[in-house]
Amino acid sequence: MAAIIIDGTATAKNIREELSEEVVRLKKQHDIIPGLATILVGGDPASQLYVCMKVKTCKAMGLHSENYDLPAKTTEEELLSLIDRLNKEPKIHGILVQVPLPPHIHENTVLAAINPIKDVDGFNPESVGNLMIGKANYLPCTPLGIQVLLQKYSIETEGADVVIIGRSNILGKPMAGILMQKGKGANATVTVCHTKTRDLASHTRRADILIAAAGSQPRFITADMIKEGAIVIDASTHRIGETPDGKAIICGDVDFESVKEKASAITPVPGGVGPMTIAMLMSNTIKAAKIINLLA
Ligand code: GUN
Repeated sequence: MAAIIIDGTATAKNIREELSEEVVRLKKQHDIIPGLATILVGGDPASQLYVCMKVKTCKAMGLHSENYDLPAKTTEEELLSLIDRLNKEPKIHGILVQVPLPPHIHENTVLAAINPIKDVDGFNPESVGNLMIGKANYLPCTPLGIQVLLQKYSIETEGADVVIIGRSNILGKPMAGILMQKGKGANATVTVCHTKTRDLASHTRRADILIAAAGSQPRFITADMIKEGAIVIDASTHRIGETPDGKAIICGDVDFESVKEKASAITPVPGGVGPMTIAMLMSNTIKAAKIINLLA
């Protein structure tokens, strides 16, 4: 039986519509406009595209947006000084530094400089610690988006064997932290696989929910690696070519065509996890505006 296709585009659209109403209410009742600052260092085309989509979504939803598109030669001191200014700027409630940063800048130092109350990406070490003890204000946007998608599709995580492929700070690790928590939408038994895992397929084949976040190789997760009826979430994006009119052709870690015949539900790439990331960023920014203004 073919799988249910989990529609991240439609789910994210519904969430954005609900959030837009909240933005109107905040302005009307409290004269607050949630504000997000995005910082991009260097011209990596994929990062530029992601940041551009974040800025556009802010504008479309009536959020205040400030985008800092900095040259690759920006020093760590300059970046830290911008973050310091934004930490103090009342119009800004959320600060996002797009990663990866150029190699001469220490990512951990920069992420640690963001005031945790404005850390809408959840990458500051304090936010990471709070996630692990179940007390975070803001959960990282992509893993949060996956948790919300699972909930919207009534996919039970409690007691489920969840296998995550990938241990990145922005996806694999926080995903594991979120799903292993005690509570609704979590309570899972989580395994995290990575490049040093022995016999990857022996792990993926026993997953009730498989979350692919490896990002190493297009479509390497094939039907023989999946348990019949599993839920398959693909959080990776690989650019594998271009259409004649110059549009990027993208796919995920999962071989969608074969796996969809064996899974019970699956996210497509594009149109699965991706749109949820931005919706969650908007949600976290609105939440930050409320927390900072003592409304939450
Ligand atoms: N790079 C890839 N994904 C993300 C994300 O969610 N946030 C930031 N800041 N950088 C990223």
